[in-house]
Amino acid sequence: MNIGYATLLMLALAAAASVQAAEDRPAEKLVRERCQKCHGFDGESSEPEFPKLAGQNVDYMTRQMANFKTGLRKSTRMKEKVEDLSGGEMRALAEYFSTKTLVPERSAKTELVDAGRRLYFSGHFEHGVTACTTCHGPLGRGAIYLPRLAGQNVKYLVGQLHAFRDYSRTSPNMVMHTVVENISDAEIDAVAEFLSIME
Ligand code: HEC
Ligand code: HEC
Repeated sequence: MNIGYATLLMLALAAAASVQAAEDRPAEKLVRERCQKCHGFDGESSEPEFPKLAGQNVDYMTRQMANFKTGLRKSTRMKEKVEDLSGGEMRALAEYFSTKTLVPERSAKTELVDAGRRLYFSGHFEHGVTACTTCHGPLGRGAIYLPRLAGQNVKYLVGQLHAFRDYSRTSPNMVMHTVVENISDAEIDAVAEFLSIME
């Protein structure tokens, strides 16, 4: 009886150890099984509320997944998708999506685009809104931990800018909260419209 129990225990421990040592699952398989539904197989995103991941920066995406996992950035939908992913799997997924070609939006509201372009390159000094180009770059492609914004969905961008302003998107990097502290709703709509058609 005792021996049987000890044997079972050893088997259980061996099984647990083999799970720990298991190899990372291939990124493409994970994409099909659990990302494709919302972000698309090529990161093109299936609904305007979901961010496009195609062409997004690897380090930025890896960090965001880690933030969803720890709860630093709150999203119930994302947390359950990354909860059991290893660091290597998250990086491989980020690498997978970053190599895909992003297709920008085409149908921007032209009357907003000009106002959005001005805000992007010049900011709104009197309201303390720093020019976006300072950090996200003249092509809107970001770098390393700075996200690419060019070609992103309007609805997603608008949602995130509101979320930075009201602190519902939390980030250990405080800089975006400061940038958008005094931005108006109209400026958010305009800059998002401009960004969505940026190549
Ligand atoms: C049920 C829909 C859904 C699925 C499935 C899903 N995501 Fe997401 N993802 C979202 C939403 C919604 C957001 C935006 C969260 C927010 O509001 O901050 C997001 C955000 C992200 C971001 C941050 C993008 C950015 O620009 O900041 C990354 C990276 C990401 N998802 C990767 C993945 C990966 C990898 C998978 C598969 C393992 C996956 N997602 C599966 C809905 C989903
Ligand atoms: C001082 C540097 C800086 C400036 C200026 C700046 N940003 Fe950012 N932005 C960042 C950083 C850093 C992040 C990533 C924050 C994080 O890790 O959560 C970010 C994230 C974002 C995101 C989220 C993107 C995504 O994929 O989820 C949007 C949208 C954004 N910025 C728009 C803007 C706009 C519009 C402006 C100009 C009004 C602007 N930013 C100015 C540094 C900056």
